[in-house]
Amino acid sequence: MEVLGIDIGGTGIKGAPVDTLNGALIAERFRVLTPQPATPGAVIRSVVEVVTHFNWHGEIGVGYPGVVKNGYTMTAANVDPGWIGFNALDALQQATGCPVSLVNDADAAGLAEMRFGAGRNQPNVVIMLTIGTGIGTALFVNGHLVPNTEMGHLIIRGKDAEHRASERVRVEKELSWKAWSKRFNEYLTYLDNLFWPDLFIIGGGVSKHFERFSHRLTVRARVAPAGLMNDAGIVGAAMARTA
Ligand code: BGC
Repeated sequence: MEVLGIDIGGTGIKGAPVDTLNGALIAERFRVLTPQPATPGAVIRSVVEVVTHFNWHGEIGVGYPGVVKNGYTMTAANVDPGWIGFNALDALQQATGCPVSLVNDADAAGLAEMRFGAGRNQPNVVIMLTIGTGIGTALFVNGHLVPNTEMGHLIIRGKDAEHRASERVRVEKELSWKAWSKRFNEYLTYLDNLFWPDLFIIGGGVSKHFERFSHRLTVRARVAPAGLMNDAGIVGAAMARTA
């Protein structure tokens, strides 16, 4: 089945048609910058731009960078607070004229990785992390998703974890890979001790630089880069059902 997957991020909005049977992108992905301020109206206009680019009239799956409950967006750490308590599912369906599913972006990426990527056939406890503008997490127990985990907001050294160890912080503070890995390892160790996962899957912008930091990680759990790299969010959004 072909579904248009769209990944709304704090920095970019990316989309591509996806073959949900094998997780492959059917066309080259299309990206627009996230409008600032990232209000619902402005972001939804950008989503429509992506839909129009592909001349799409079928099903759409959207990943949103915050908690999603029953089609309502409930948090907005890296987008405009206007999203909090907003019926985004309704608004997206009206604006695109297409049937839409809406889920958290990291949950989407995790679903794709568990089906087609580094988490394939992996039982027990798996944590997917997307390291980008923020830090997103998805928790799987024997292949089942526990939706809307928000481990990127655990407090480390008095700060939101994503304000210490995201890709955005690495770039903005011009941290070396060594300095960033130290922060990231501290955060992973915290998660390791709380959840005792068997596998961490690392996605988002840093996944393509995995060899630059993986040798510095000291956690018990196995750590693997996302098999689908930065496309996991698009593929997973296309596979997901509204949370
Ligand atoms: C949000 C998460 C999201 C993550 C990655 C965090 O700030 O709270 O819901 O998954 O950023 O976009």
